[in-house]
Amino acid sequence: MVLFGRSFFRISYFKLRAVLVIVLILHLVVQFWKCFPQQGVASSCPGQLIRTMYTRGVMSAGINNENIEGNLREQMQIGRLRCNCPEPPDWLRPVNARRINEGNKWELEKNKRREPLSVCNAMSPFNYIGGGITVEPYQTVPIIGLSLHPVIERMLPQLNTDITLKISSLNKLGKPRFSKSFHEMCLSNCLISGQGTTQLSINLKRNISLLNSVLKNNILYSSDNYELDARDKLQITLLNFTADIYVRIRREPLPDLYDPGERNSVIDKVTVITKTFERYDSVDEFVSSIHMFYPNLTIIIADDSEFPQPIKKDHVKHFIMPFREGSFPGRNLALSQVKTKYVIFLDDDMFFTSRTNLEAMLEKLEDPKADMDIVCGRVKHLSELKGFRRIGYSGTQGYCNLGPFVPQNHQVYGYPQCTWGEMFIFFFMAKTAVLRKIGAYPQIVQAAHEEAWIDTIGKAKSAFCSDSVVSHKHYSNSKYLEFRRESHSVLYRDPLALFENNICYWWRRYKFPGIHSFNLYSRQNNLE
Ligand SMILES: *[C@@H]1O[C@H](CO)[C@@H](O)[C@H](O)[C@H]1NC(C)=O
Ligand SMILES: *[C@@H]1O[C@H](CO)[C@@H](O)[C@H](O)[C@H]1NC(C)=O
Ligand SMILES: *[C@@H]1O[C@H](CO)[C@@H](O)[C@H](O)[C@H]1NC(C)=O
Repeated sequence: MVLFGRSFFRISYFKLRAVLVIVLILHLVVQFWKCFPQQGVASSCPGQLIRTMYTRGVMSAGINNENIEGNLREQMQIGRLRCNCPEPPDWLRPVNARRINEGNKWELEKNKRREPLSVCNAMSPFNYIGGGITVEPYQTVPIIGLSLHPVIERMLPQLNTDITLKISSLNKLGKPRFSKSFHEMCLSNCLISGQGTTQLSINLKRNISLLNSVLKNNILYSSDNYELDARDKLQITLLNFTADIYVRIRREPLPDLYDPGERNSVIDKVTVITKTFERYDSVDEFVSSIHMFYPNLTIIIADDSEFPQPIKKDHVKHFIMPFREGSFPGRNLALSQVKTKYVIFLDDDMFFTSRTNLEAMLEKLEDPKADMDIVCGRVKHLSELKGFRRIGYSGTQGYCNLGPFVPQNHQVYGYPQCTWGEMFIFFFMAKTAVLRKIGAYPQIVQAAHEEAWIDTIGKAKSAFCSDSVVSHKHYSNSKYLEFRRESHSVLYRDPLALFENNICYWWRRYKFPGIHSFNLYSRQNNLE
């Protein structure tokens, strides 16, 4: 009962507050309209107040938009995942410093392209679109969505001042101008200045219908710089009120299409790639198993064994690489030779079975509603992985891989057998164009699993689906094992894996010798 009483009190208190706000707004509106028709009545009228604000330039005075934006961005960071970086051991210091330096350059590049905060000031006399207007370099776009607020339109004749409109390009990536038809309308009725510069201005005298016309798609913006993806900031000033409109200059890349073939067959749409090292018996079974269930499927094998042996099978392309060239370079080589829209990757000791269903994998990649780039299948005898990565940001030292998390809502809509995630076992089908853009960091020579998945973050949407299965068998021999063991021990202290993604710490994997435990988690990352 006590609890019930309390929540009841809370609800009525909330309602009371809402009602008070509405009453206040109504009061202001009534006052505004009361004051509006006659001029210069009681100076406490809100309408009079607003008019005074516009005419005296109060609305724009003292507002420094740069400061506001920086401040707002800082507030937004409160929810960002933070982490601390450990002091690197001596042997890592030089490469760590180079990483931070390269990372800072990358951050600067990234910031150039970040989403601008289009700050919309209150009491704007006109409607405008803060962001989303896009133009190709050297082309022209109308500044759409401009129109006078109806209240302001009625108020304007009372102002007794000339109406001036200023449009400036602040980042100077292009120039504002008026359309030809507007120039014809204008003639002796208005004064235009700053034509052909980044600061255009027009005096419309007191002609409100002319103001309405100019706002209606007659202000144009012509990009005159070569940019692939940049933003210009157009500042529009009317009645001493200033609004910022972000125009995006974007050279649209053309699509990367692959011909799926006439037959709509898996054979024409899919290529299998793998990388092998000193395991010809395994490769033999690998190829046979694939061709047993999918005859004529193209298989590309990158091989960096010491004494390469020919693989004499139909529909197999065998690429010989220098001895111990490495796992990631091998993947890159094989991927570069793919001619089909989709590509399958699996290790050379995984085998197709009657439960390997490429059609089921293809279905998801081809479903526009699923929007999936990489679909992983199950590998028998290996544990299933799931989850996303928590990536923390340290501020000045780079990022941290804080390990996995599993969000509640990670089911793929329409496919109950599938879940989204950012790391699974390596048996997958992917869109070739997407995988090519991710590539594999060739400096990493070991078969590094987590590193490869970290590379996909933000670049591809991956899911695991249990309806396509391959089997797995450990094929090994003394030579294979010798090099495998060696690469394992290198991996744990290889700064390259950290360098690539500007990561200063890798949960549990990188326990640098000589580093005592430190607090990885920064306290700033709490919004709750
Ligand atoms: C804008 O403000 C200036 C003073 O800063 C004032 O002289 C001018 O009349 C105002 N213009 C309009 C259109 O309100
Ligand atoms: C406003 O400008 C238009 C177009 O030039 C003109 O036809 C109209 O007569 C002008 N109105 C006033 C009130 O000056
Ligand atoms: C496989 O390729 C051979 C020629 O290499 C061809 O005769 C056969 O019809 C193909 N089979 C399929 C299922 O495409």
